Order: sequence, then structure tokens, then C-alpha cells
Amino acid sequence: MNKPKKILVTGANGLLGQKTAELFRHESQHELILTDLHDNAFESRGFDYFPMDITKKEEVKEAVKKYLPDIVINTAAFTNVDGCETEREQSWRVNVDAVKHFIIASRINSSKIVHISTDYIFDGKAGNYSESSKPNPLSYYGKSKLAAENALVTSGIDFAIVRTMIIYGTGKNLRPNFAVWLINMLSEKNSVTIVDDQFGMPTIVDDLGWALVKMVDLNKSGIYNVCGSEYLSRYEFAVKLAEIFGFNENLIKPIKTTDLNQAAARPMNSSFILLKAKTDLDLNPLNVTEGLNLLKVQLGL
Ligand SMILES: NC(=O)c1ccc[n+]([C@@H]2O[C@H](COP(=O)([O-])OP(=O)(O)OC[C@H]3O[C@@H](n4cnc5c(N)ncnc54)[C@H](OP(=O)(O)O)[C@@H]3O)[C@@H](O)[C@H]2O)c1
Repeated sequence: MNKPKKILVTGANGLLGQKTAELFRHESQHELILTDLHDNAFESRGFDYFPMDITKKEEVKEAVKKYLPDIVINTAAFTNVDGCETEREQSWRVNVDAVKHFIIASRINSSKIVHISTDYIFDGKAGNYSESSKPNPLSYYGKSKLAAENALVTSGIDFAIVRTMIIYGTGKNLRPNFAVWLINMLSEKNSVTIVDDQFGMPTIVDDLGWALVKMVDLNKSGIYNVCGSEYLSRYEFAVKLAEIFGFNENLIKPIKTTDLNQAAARPMNSSFILLKAKTDLDLNPLNVTEGLNLLKVQLGL
């Protein structure tokens, strides 16, 4: 293992940011500095934290100058996929311009950037995407995430990009992710309509956070696919969740994507080849049953 690094984590109040902080703290020797837009979700947990808007170039530069991180892990993003269609300027500022600010600031002390990307850079026609598959984003969110990838790839700095999809898990004061939203709805006996024609590989946030720890420990660079190990439709995921949490499956009705009228087009068939992460990082991501059982324990249900 390399000597301990100083790591700046953006988006630290988000789903992945919180888990990243927790895992690095418990599973590594690295020094963490956390930042996000608003107040600290980590109050009383003893982390170094400061608020920062990463779209502000000067703030990013000053933070890098002050803390001189060896690595910036950028989990911050404008993650509302449909919102990106209507709030194009702001989503581009967060998802693309901010990454460019970090690329420029990284030259102050040659810090490496570890960035999180998405299956939404693909059109979801062929599936089985490897790290070298050709992107073709359908949505503005996907376009912005691809533009950030391209900025990193052409920057000449040391970088890693972790592509993932359908993250679920728990944390403090989070917007509900798909699994948690389902748990909230089904536990209150509300019926839900779920698309049965969007397929993907749901990812428990713990596996993704763990992949980041390994990437840093093993000093890996380049592009990595990291997601759950099971491929299924959103509807099948919901039914499995109901089974595991003991909810009434009859509350879940299948529908088609065309009936949803979502603002952003989704890739229908997003599957990743995980060979690189499995071999390079020795990663063994959980399947959906394992991931949901872990979530159940974490929620104390
Ligand atoms: N969630 C998924 O299913 C999924 C799938 C594929 C890829 N990803 C990628 O994975 C990464 C982590 O996703 P996540 O689900 O953990 O996201 P998240 O929970 O939405 O967290 C993102 C964090 O970034 C913060 N942020 C937004 N604008 C900012 C700004 N201008 N300056 C500083 N911080 C800002 C957000 O603050 P506010 O909440 O206050 O806005 C939020 O705390 C993202 O890069 C995302 O694109 C996510």
C-alpha cells in the first residue's frame, strides 16, 4: 500500500460522499477533508469540513491552495437527470465546469482527480459496455457527464474515472434513492408503478465507496466500470425488494417507459462488463439480494 494521502472529497453530504467518508475513515489511513455546498452532514463525527460551491473557480483554487490535497475525489454533481434537461446551464456548471476548475487547480500541486461518471453516457442500445465502449449519451445529464470525462482524459493530469449506475443505500438527510423511495412507499402500503423495460445493474453504495478506497490504495488511474453484479429491470428490482423487506408485491405494477413521460431519455439496457474492476481492484460487487439485505440491516428493519 502507498503512504497515506491527503484526500479532498467533494459532495460529502451526498449518498456516495457520505459513504466514501465513512469507508475511508474506517478502512484506510488516509487523511480526509470534506466539502459540499451546504452545512456539514458530518457535524459531531469529527471530520474536517468546509462548505464550497465547486462552480466557483476561485473557491476551488483557494481550497486546493490551502489544503494541497494529493487526491480530489469528486462525488459532487447535479444528479437530477430530468432536472438537467430544464436547468441546463446550472447542470453544466456543476457537472462540467467544476471539473475543469479542479483540473486547473490540480496543477498547483499535481493532485490527482478521481471522478464519478455514469452509464448515462451510453445510449443503452447494445449494453455490455466495457471501459472502451463508444459513448452516445441520450440526455443532457449524460452529455454533461461525458464532457467532464473528456475534459479529464484530455487534461494531461493523473485521473481516474469510475463509471457506475443506479446507486442505492442509506445516509443522513439524503434525498431518497430508488430503493429507499420504494421502501418508503411500500411500507406505507402505497401502490407504485415501475418500468419493466429499463434494465441495469443496481449498485449498493458500499461497493462503490469500497472501490474508491481500493483505487486510492492501489494507485489506479484510468477508467473503471463499477456497479452491482446483477442485471435486471427496475420492476424486477422492486419485486425483489418487496420480497426481502416483507412488503406486499401486489402493490407494484409494471409500466412501460413511454407511459412515464420522463423529461430525459434513459438508456434502456445498461449493463457493464466488470472484468477490469474485478481483476485490477479485486472487487466482488454484491448482487441485488445481497445488497438489499445489507441495506435492510443498515436501516435496522
Ligand atoms: N445516484 C445514482 O444513481 C448515480 C448513478 C450513476 C452515477 N452517479 C454519479 O455518482 C456521483 C455521486 O452521486 P450521488 O447519488 O451520491 O449524488 P448526490 O447524493 O446527489 O450528491 C451530490 C452532492 O453534490 C452536491 N452539489 C451539488 N452542486 C454542488 C455545487 N455547486 N458545489 C458543491 N457541491 C454540490 C449536492 O448538494 P445538494 O444536494 O445540496 O445539491 C450533493 O450533496 C455523481 O457524480 C453522480 O453523477 C450517480
